[in-house]
Amino acid sequence: MEPQTPTSRRVLVAKPRGYCAGVDRAVVAVEKALEQYGAPVYVRKQIVHNTHVVKTLEAKGAIFVEETEEVPEGEIVVFSAHGVSPAVHSEAQQRKLRTIDATCPLVTKVHNEAKRFAGQDYGILLIGHEGHEEVEGTAGEAPEHIQLVDGLGSVDGIQVKDPEKLVWLSQTTLSVDETVETVARLKERFPTLIDPPSDDICYATQNRQVAVKEIAAQSQLVIVVGSENSSNSKRLVEVAKDHGAAASYLVDNATFIQDEWLDGVTTVGVTSGASVPEELVEQVLARLAQHGFGEVEEVESVRESMRFSLPHELRKDLRAS
Ligand code: F3S
Repeated sequence: MEPQTPTSRRVLVAKPRGYCAGVDRAVVAVEKALEQYGAPVYVRKQIVHNTHVVKTLEAKGAIFVEETEEVPEGEIVVFSAHGVSPAVHSEAQQRKLRTIDATCPLVTKVHNEAKRFAGQDYGILLIGHEGHEEVEGTAGEAPEHIQLVDGLGSVDGIQVKDPEKLVWLSQTTLSVDETVETVARLKERFPTLIDPPSDDICYATQNRQVAVKEIAAQSQLVIVVGSENSSNSKRLVEVAKDHGAAASYLVDNATFIQDEWLDGVTTVGVTSGASVPEELVEQVLARLAQHGFGEVEEVESVRESMRFSLPHELRKDLRAS
């Protein structure tokens, strides 16, 4: 028997969603660099973790590389929003590369905290995902002081030199709720562990999680637009499942939606990660409309107004031209 299509189907779209201030700045930095200096402009790693953004910039003349050694001497290289370690800056200098640092200022804030605590000889427990570029960049600021804590499961295995002189810091794109649990467990083991001076999980990650919780509670299915390597997008899928959605899926774009996900569903929630352009969400809404989800309501949980100015190296050249 054919599955029944419910007569009244609606979509709840979370707000805020999509681009954060750090992603917007990084993408515009590459675009402006291409305009200012001409193609090619090299970019170390994906400028932001989104396949569509990377392909669009490639079409405009950006060349994405994994390491600075792949960039010809003297050329321009942009560092991605996730940040780089001091070792990468030195390599670039040795190769006489002209660098534009598009590290998000909120990632730089965590680097500065790491440097300051390491300078005071603290042990630093960095909560984050092993292998993520941001974690590699932050850990590179003080490798002899920093230990990675990759989730609750890794807390028991942590060994520290001085349990009385410890601070925790974190990746900017973690699940807020999971991090609270991990910190609580760390404090059971190390009661004098101190907190970072301010939240390391950034405003955009926090706001998108608050917004998805609100729509998840009213939706049977939540579709999160985002790429597989986007940490904050993946967290949105988990948060949606933990807060009422029977199912939640990460899709790179509308073509990833499988018709059977919609069987028997009357309310679909839609959101997108911080590196996702709005046009991809619009394509998802169009696809849902083809399946009878014509009623679209935006649910706003938090107002955002954050903006960051372009990297100073680029601003200087743009002003001079
Ligand atoms: Fe920055 Fe947070 Fe976006 S750290 S790049 S504002 S997700």
